[in-house]
Amino acid sequence: MDRPYVIINSAMTIDGKIATKKGDSKISSKEDLVRVHKLRASVDAIMVGINTVLIDDPSLKVKYCQGKNPIRIVVDSKARTPITSRILDKDTPTFIAVTEKAPIDRINKLKEAGANIIFCGKGEEVDLVMLFKILKDMGINKVLVEGGGNINWSVISQGLFDELQVTIGPFIVGGKDAITLVEGDGFERMDEGIRVRLHKVEQNNDEVVLIYKAIR
Ligand SMILES: NC(=O)c1ccc[n+]([C@@H]2O[C@H](COP(=O)([O-])OP(=O)(O)OC[C@H]3O[C@@H](n4cnc5c(N)ncnc54)[C@H](OP(=O)(O)O)[C@@H]3O)[C@@H](O)[C@H]2O)c1
Repeated sequence: MDRPYVIINSAMTIDGKIATKKGDSKISSKEDLVRVHKLRASVDAIMVGINTVLIDDPSLKVKYCQGKNPIRIVVDSKARTPITSRILDKDTPTFIAVTEKAPIDRINKLKEAGANIIFCGKGEEVDLVMLFKILKDMGINKVLVEGGGNINWSVISQGLFDELQVTIGPFIVGGKDAITLVEGDGFERMDEGIRVRLHKVEQNNDEVVLIYKAIR
């Protein structure tokens, strides 16, 4: 396969939201965070979309268990990652995947801040097929995609994943503008939808973790 093994991990409410309409995404319990951090420690790279960086400012490090920090990747076609982002701290490498649309001054600022830049296509969006091939060529064999909903759509709809781990937290928050597990344009018919196979179910009090495998 011309790409790494890709695991998508996300926590959602019972009504499928991965954040409230105001962007609060604290859904996982402490126990679930330990699971996620063990997953982080088992991969070579963690990938998120630029909106997740802008809204959550995550450091994407391994904190709730022992383990090595994977490299961090931001999918950010226009190089909007703020140089003050926690993801650009110096102790773990960060790669910003941009397109040729990214302004050169932004790219230079990110390089000065210590980021590595990967060019992936000329379009409005980062070409994920190209990005995953570049990562594979760099020796990255396992990638954890940690959202948000738009990145999840691109990865899932293009069939670029192998595993999907979804925590369902015991919350219902509603909100038509609250981001769901998978955003994007969506499919018209159910038979166009991406099918997965249920591999495992874990329960932790009122929280459930569903682990699916992609069908090839
Ligand atoms: N509960 C959870 O597990 C969890 C996890 C992560 C995030 N979240 C929440 O999710 C929300 C953010 O999700 P989001 O859907 O708005 O944003 P996102 O998926 O984090 O980022 C989407 C952005 O990435 C850029 N992008 C570049 N190439 C792309 C491609 N090929 N496909 C898709 N996007 C591409 C686009 O911005 P440009 O055009 O500027 O490049 C796009 O708007 C936040 O509220 C965050 O808290 C929750």
